[in-house]
Amino acid sequence: MPAPSRVKIVEVSPRDGLQNEKDFVPTDVKIELVNRLAAAGFPNIEATSFVSPKWVPQMADAAQVMAGIDRKPGIIYSVLTPNMKGFEAARDAGADEVVIFGAASEAFSQKNINCSIAESIARFEPVAAAAKAAGLRLRGSISCALGCPYQGEVPVAAVVDVAQRYLALGCDEIDVADTIGVGTPRRVRQVMDAVTAVVDPARISGHFHDTYGQAVGNIAAALDSGIAIFHASVAGLGGCPYAKGATGNVATEDVLYLLRGMDIDTGIDFDAVVDIGQWMSANLHRKSSSRAGNAVAAKRAA
Ligand code: HMG
Ligand code: MG
Repeated sequence: MPAPSRVKIVEVSPRDGLQNEKDFVPTDVKIELVNRLAAAGFPNIEATSFVSPKWVPQMADAAQVMAGIDRKPGIIYSVLTPNMKGFEAARDAGADEVVIFGAASEAFSQKNINCSIAESIARFEPVAAAAKAAGLRLRGSISCALGCPYQGEVPVAAVVDVAQRYLALGCDEIDVADTIGVGTPRRVRQVMDAVTAVVDPARISGHFHDTYGQAVGNIAAALDSGIAIFHASVAGLGGCPYAKGATGNVATEDVLYLLRGMDIDTGIDFDAVVDIGQWMSANLHRKSSSRAGNAVAAKRAA
């Protein structure tokens, strides 16, 4: 399949990028991050997550973040909602899209959301119905689609099964997520080809963590499967508190560099993203994990 000529990047740094940070990131920094990303041209920003603050304390200020950001028309502001409590708070906060998040691995489902896969789908049903009734977009995320930190190998059929359940719930978009970054391009092709055999490829996204340094290659492979939506996080920030050993998402700067080299349009200002990645890394007192971001920053400083 020819690679798409345009790709949508969903910037997940305000949520996935920060949720695993040990020290509380001040709410005004989170708000500035979202606003800077909006100004850089991202069409879809995952702004925060309406989860239990007992489980993920870093996201306890979800409502304040949503209330504090400048809403730029045309941008989809997405938030995670594991249950009705999260959904109601997200709707009241004015989210454009709510994300239900399950897994293709039983073990991970238990660790992350404290229920089985089947129980999670049952819990998502009212959330999905309420989202549709409220006219909100609905996205479903499939964790451990390329491997599980507890169970190891995850069958392709398990990923396809969750994708079909999400489709039945009315998901507008479905994320195939490599939570612990273990996937390699050949496996990514197998999983994406199997999922796109039952779901329109235009609804599928790739969410690749970069733990084993494979994420950019995995995106190139997914493009060959006709995937045109990818999640990324500035400076490669990110990780799930319930995925031991997992590191950040693929760095947005690295993805934009890849896509630019393939003449694939994103509408995003690469130089602005490099600035945001360096700024946010300085805020967190660490060096950016983006190879492309650091290369550009070094060149500028020379
Ligand atoms: P539980 O303990 O089974 O649920 O957690 P519960 O209903 O018994 O609630 C426990 C307490 O949390 C109660 O408070 C609830 O009110 C409260 P208490 O009565 O004890 O004072 N509560 C909430 N508070 C605020 N907002 C809510 C909410 N729900 C309950 N929405 C639950 C079940 C799902 C809530 C919990 O396990 C949870 O919040 N998990 C979230 C885990 C998480 O955020 N993980 C990271 C995001 S997923 C991810 O990173 C993967 C992804 O990036 C893709 C990939 O890479 O794979 C998307
Ligand atoms: Mg993730």
